[in-house]
Amino acid sequence: MTNPRLTMGSLVKAYENKWSRWVGRKYSVACNSGSSANLLMYDALLQSGKLQNKKIIVPSSAWVTTIAPAIQLGFEPIMCDADESSFGLDIDHLEELLLKHKPGTVMLVQVLGVPANMDKIMQLKEDYDFFLLEDACAAMGSSYRGRKIGTFGDMSSISTYFGHQFSTVEGGMVSTDDKELYTIAFMLRSHGWINGLDPETRAQYLNKHSIKDIGTGFVFPYAGYNFRLTDDHAFIGLRQLDRMEWLIRQRYGNHLLYQKLLTGLFGFQMFDKDTTVCSIHFCALAESEDERNFITSELQENSIETRPFTSGNQGLQPYWFKKYPKFNGQTATRLYECGFFLPNYPTLTNSDIEHICSVAIKAALEHRKGDR
Ligand SMILES: Cc1ncc(COP(=O)(O)O)c(C=O)c1O
Repeated sequence: MTNPRLTMGSLVKAYENKWSRWVGRKYSVACNSGSSANLLMYDALLQSGKLQNKKIIVPSSAWVTTIAPAIQLGFEPIMCDADESSFGLDIDHLEELLLKHKPGTVMLVQVLGVPANMDKIMQLKEDYDFFLLEDACAAMGSSYRGRKIGTFGDMSSISTYFGHQFSTVEGGMVSTDDKELYTIAFMLRSHGWINGLDPETRAQYLNKHSIKDIGTGFVFPYAGYNFRLTDDHAFIGLRQLDRMEWLIRQRYGNHLLYQKLLTGLFGFQMFDKDTTVCSIHFCALAESEDERNFITSELQENSIETRPFTSGNQGLQPYWFKKYPKFNGQTATRLYECGFFLPNYPTLTNSDIEHICSVAIKAALEHRKGDR
């Protein structure tokens, strides 16, 4: 091949189609990060004119860019506590907020790959009639009672950042079954222009704005972004998708082994036996912040990658409390103070996990005995 195009082209399209088929959605828009995917979901919903209001319930246990677009696009975010069991949205608090605020939208995170209580959330969606955005950026490959994560929201996002379940180095994707939301996200991804639309949709947009078709794609129904993925990233993604079943098996097996070895010593996320967890990390909960800090320093001493779960409560992050009151949800605050991550990746061996757990357990017991 001479002069390969390399920017967004046929490989991106093939990658979008392959992900849509794998996850089970009609349409996908690939973009350059999970954060961009979240922003595209918010903005597509806003531009669609379908929203009853700009109130949105956001999870406290999330990533900054799960919530940032709400602030950037002038939504009114209302924070919901985390569920003790899944670390996703707390159902009782969610219902209380739905009754009180009647928001047009709820944003959900499938926290670290462990599905939220989707039966209850989907029931609330029916009862209170809101749009559901599903941030599955750290949850690709998981499924809830046989249904794949990434198929619950009116729109869902994934991130294929380095270190996620599968990677295109940087990258993200929005998926949906709604043709209109897809079309808007598709245009917003690339400047807000009509370029690349199918002929029928193109004609609809031109007619709607009384613009004569002079054969150019340079017509901009929306004030968009440039969030395009490139064909070389898509090339990697296409191959990564071939490994999905293997990597789910590996990550799920690792997750179950962590659970087995840490039961009774630390708290962790719970799920039922019909649920498959393709987790990004294993999140454990120490008994106190002090104990957590001691364990993470011991893990680091032993060259084991770890991180405190400061994303457990976004309402304690400066970008939030500069604008809104600090969020003091009980469970979210416990995650923020006591949560820490243990590594999960497909080639981790059982003896690696046994070693990692032994270091974490030794540190916790030492701390609990008062030796530290
Ligand atoms: C839940 C969640 N949402 C969004 C993102 C953002 O994804 P990206 O790093 O691709 O922008 C992440 C990143 O880890 C995440 O964990």
